[in-house]
Amino acid sequence: MRNHRIAVVPGDGIGPEVIDASLEVLAAAESAFGFSTRLTRIEAGARHYLRTGELWTAELEEQLRGHDAVLFGAMGDPAVKPGILERGFILAMRKAFQQAVNLRPVKLYEGVATPIAGLTPERCDLVIVRENTEGAYVGRGSTVHAGTPHAVAVQESVNTRPGIERVVEYSFRLAQQRRKKLTLCHKKNILIEAGNLWQDTVDEVGARYPDVEVDYVHVDAMCFHLPVAPERFDVVVTDNLFGDIITDLGAVIQGGMGVAASANLNLDGSAPSMFEAIHGSAPDIAGRGWANPVGAVLSTAMCLASLGEREAALAIEAAAVQVLAALPELSGPGMGLDTAGVGKEIASLVGAGLPQVAGRSVMEDLAGTSGKHGAGVSTPGKSA
Ligand code: IPM
Ligand code: MN
Repeated sequence: MRNHRIAVVPGDGIGPEVIDASLEVLAAAESAFGFSTRLTRIEAGARHYLRTGELWTAELEEQLRGHDAVLFGAMGDPAVKPGILERGFILAMRKAFQQAVNLRPVKLYEGVATPIAGLTPERCDLVIVRENTEGAYVGRGSTVHAGTPHAVAVQESVNTRPGIERVVEYSFRLAQQRRKKLTLCHKKNILIEAGNLWQDTVDEVGARYPDVEVDYVHVDAMCFHLPVAPERFDVVVTDNLFGDIITDLGAVIQGGMGVAASANLNLDGSAPSMFEAIHGSAPDIAGRGWANPVGAVLSTAMCLASLGEREAALAIEAAAVQVLAALPELSGPGMGLDTAGVGKEIASLVGAGLPQVAGRSVMEDLAGTSGKHGAGVSTPGKSA
């Protein structure tokens, strides 16, 4: 039987709740689709940090390396200064495991309420490829004369040709599988040095993908195109910080932070990929059952797709969408079911043979571009 070793990091706040719901769905998928998993639950996050002072350690890195994937809940807690856990754990993992791509679908599912009046599912079906290890996220900079009226803060954004090239290459391959359109999102009129490196890389890599149409949009302009004309986009490739910002916008368009999923992909097979909902730990609603677990459930499906479990991933997506579309509200006390209840409903439908969701599924994208059974991703500089 196919077996996958998955490390599970529930973390803080609503993380454990949405992860428990996801594991229920995962168990249902295992019995319906004939594979098994070996789960390792990892204690990490605020409580662990406050007790031990540990964040991302060499031992943990070693332990996680022995897994095929990492399922991640959320991290962040009012008891810990903002940024410590986020940088000390999440960013540390993305970097240590070279999770070069943060793949974030923006897909409005049938029956799901969007705040954008008149938007229909056919018009909103794109993926954002966020560079995930560089840019402003390298954590470099300095402050001179800190705490004085003369303070000078320098925050660096580091852009390397290989770092850009691997995500651009990935994006072209993805576009080839989809509607064959790639949009570079940057701010090259102002951030000239970085913007030119991104544009040159897209131009050069793009020469090897003549069937993919290439476009460019400034990040500020993206903020008005994305809500009102998402049909303009198929694959959007962008810098780490721009990607962080526009994917929150994307999440809102598709129904809110509770439904948005992501995959932090290692592209060269050297370390596990990590899968997490886009939302944070939401300590204000933790423990009440108000969190929508669908973002985490869809991230779990993305994990399975990347591990070669295409059928199971598509079935989870279909089940999650059916349950989502029936919820009176997408989170909070008006959701009608609690977090665990939503997970149970989805789990009960996973083996039901529901038809695949309409439009392009990111599960198909992942099954085709990554994972130990997938087609693999070409290394930078090599043609597709
Ligand atoms: C995200 C989050 C993270 C980020 C934080 C929690 C480090 O906002 O995954 O989008 O900025 O990347
Ligand atoms: Mn974010």
